[in-house]
Parts: sequence; structure tokens; C-alpha cells
Amino acid sequence: MKSKFDIPLSYNAIPGQQLASKIQQYADRHHDDFISDFEKTICAITGAKHAIALSSGTAAIHLGLKALQVQQHDIVMASSFTYVASINPIVYLGAEPFFIDSSPTDWNMDPNLLEEGVKVCISRNKKPKAILVVHTYGMPADMNSIMDISRRYNIPVLEDAAEALGSRLGDVSVGTFGKVGVFSFNNNKLITTYGGGALVTDDQSVAANINLWASQSRDNLPFYEHREIGYNYKMGPINAAVGLSQIEALDSKIKHRREIFTLYKDRFGHEMLWQSEGKNVFTNRWITAGRFGTNMDCRALQRKLAAAGIETRLLWKPMHLQPVFQGFQAQENGTGEGLFLNGLSFPSGDDMTPEKIDRIYSLLRG
Ligand SMILES: Cc1ncc(COP(=O)(O)O)c(C=O)c1O
Repeated sequence: MKSKFDIPLSYNAIPGQQLASKIQQYADRHHDDFISDFEKTICAITGAKHAIALSSGTAAIHLGLKALQVQQHDIVMASSFTYVASINPIVYLGAEPFFIDSSPTDWNMDPNLLEEGVKVCISRNKKPKAILVVHTYGMPADMNSIMDISRRYNIPVLEDAAEALGSRLGDVSVGTFGKVGVFSFNNNKLITTYGGGALVTDDQSVAANINLWASQSRDNLPFYEHREIGYNYKMGPINAAVGLSQIEALDSKIKHRREIFTLYKDRFGHEMLWQSEGKNVFTNRWITAGRFGTNMDCRALQRKLAAAGIETRLLWKPMHLQPVFQGFQAQENGTGEGLFLNGLSFPSGDDMTPEKIDRIYSLLRG
């Protein structure tokens, strides 16, 4: 059984045969080769100079923020319309998120609101230490504008591309605009390692630090010496093997997810608003997410579909509305809240077919 739902949100097939033969292929090699080969593959896909495979996307964000020298009481400008894992690591470091609402077109961090927020901080003599921008549901954020702001105010960028492997702006992969980029390979992502993540960077010294911190900050010496606190965050070999057994299928998985999106869009027509793919933007359409054109009881729709075995999710509840983050600053425009109240994400996995989309559509209409 694939899931408790007949049609799960993001089913990701693991071909057992391919996994077995991948493991067989490495039979005479060191088990760390699974990890280094997976890292090389991530470099090849993204064009980044360095990739470090880690135990989760959350761990990668944690170490990425540390590499940007985020510390206690620092401010990090962060996308509000996202999953909580983008934000928790800011708080692990004792820093404070400053939430930035979304643009209504791509649903990602609105660069104008970002700049307003940066100015507010600077006027209070508290220049932000970093910008954490999320490519939500796989859609690239407006990195040209965000990198302009980063350069103008000299604030480094971490890209949370957890959901966006394969997405790009022109020829440039998401995750490689900022100083560090992060990907997730958890179970519902396009490529899974049964749990895992990666950090990419072009900066050799950042890569060396991430490798060090992820391995208990153990110095490369013939004895155990540690000059800083470290973490046990490296990806395990079997997880890397799972990733390697799938990664060749990345392009065909993206093609499929994009076709699924087009089918939903064709069925729903103008009843729904979608994240729009601007000029030169290419999204992996990890999840097809739509906002109803009129006010909807999305919870009732979700219950109705669930009763028919179909998994949907309400869109992210913005971080500035989360009880756990009350008291932090935010620059809002109502977009994230509107998406939360009137949006749903639809099954988008490897198992989706036009017939299943027809079934979902007729249930929603009925
Ligand atoms: C936007 C976003 N950021 C971060 C993460 C964290 O990734 P992981 O689950 O691998 O820790 C996820 C996925 O869960 C995510 O969707």
C-alpha cells in the first residue's frame, strides 16, 4: 500500500530493482563513495562547485545560516509563506526571523517588501545578518531583484530550494544565486533519499566548514581534536544510494509534474489562480497548488476529497501567523494569508494520471 490515501499528495516511486543494482554496483567500493558520488551528481545538476550531502534539509539550513555567521540576537529576513523548517534553524541559533510576505504572482518573497523591511532594520541600527529566501512549491523566487538588494545592502543570501531541485532562472539553477543553497530529499520530494538534504556553495571555505561542522567538528588529525561544537549531520551511505538510484529520472519526473500541472490548469480554467512562471523562469512544479478565485471553505473541500481517498493540503499558514512565532517582526501585504485561506495543493506525484485529475475535478464540482 502506497499510503493511507488512494491518491497521495506527492507519491514518489522507488524502483526496488534499481536500488538493488545500485548497491550491487558499489559492492567492492568504500561505502563513503555513495555519498561522494551523490554530492558530485548534485554539483552536476545545479552547477554548484561544492555540494555536501546532509541528514536533512533542516540540518542544511542550520549549517548554512551558521556559515553566514548568524548568531544570537541577529535578524534574518525570511520568507513567511513557507514550511516551518525554513525558520526553525534561525531560532536554533538564537537569532530572530523578520518575516516577509509574498508577491501575488509567484507566491515567493516580495522583493519590495524585503527592501522595506531591510530599511526598517537599518533605521533602528540593526542591519539584518542574512536573507533566507524560499522557492516555494518549486517556483523560483525573483532572484534578480533579491540579489540586487543583497548587493546594495551587503547582506548574504541563503536560498531554501528544498522543494525546487531542477528549477532554474534562465540557465542558472536555484540554490546557486546566494552564498549558500539548500535542497531536501525527504520522502515527499521529487528525489528522495528516504530523508536527507544537501547544501551547495561555490565558496571553498564555506564547503570546508560545513563538512567539518557536519562531522562533529572533528579536525583532520591522527587523534580526536575538536576546536568547536559540531553536529552529526552527514548523510548516511544507504540514503545516498537511494538518491543515486533515482536521480537519473529527475528530468522525466519534472516533465511529468509539469504535465500534471497543465492538466489541472486546463480542467479548472479560470476558477483558480496559480503560481505564474515569469519570463525565463522554469519551475519543477513539485506540487500543483491553486488559489480559488472566490472565497472557499477549503477545509470542507479537503474533508470531502479525503473521504474519497484523495490527499490534499491547505496551503502554508504563513509564519507570521504561527503561534510559535508571535512577537517577531513582519512586513505583510495579505498575500500569504489569502493563499492560506483560499488555497489547496493537489496530488502531484509520480502516480498521477489524467483520469485521476478528472476524478478530483468532478468531486470538487459535485
Ligand atoms: C521549504 C522547505 N524548507 C525546508 C524543508 C526541510 O527539509 P527536510 O524535511 O529535509 O528537513 C522542507 C521540507 O520539509 C521544505 O519544504
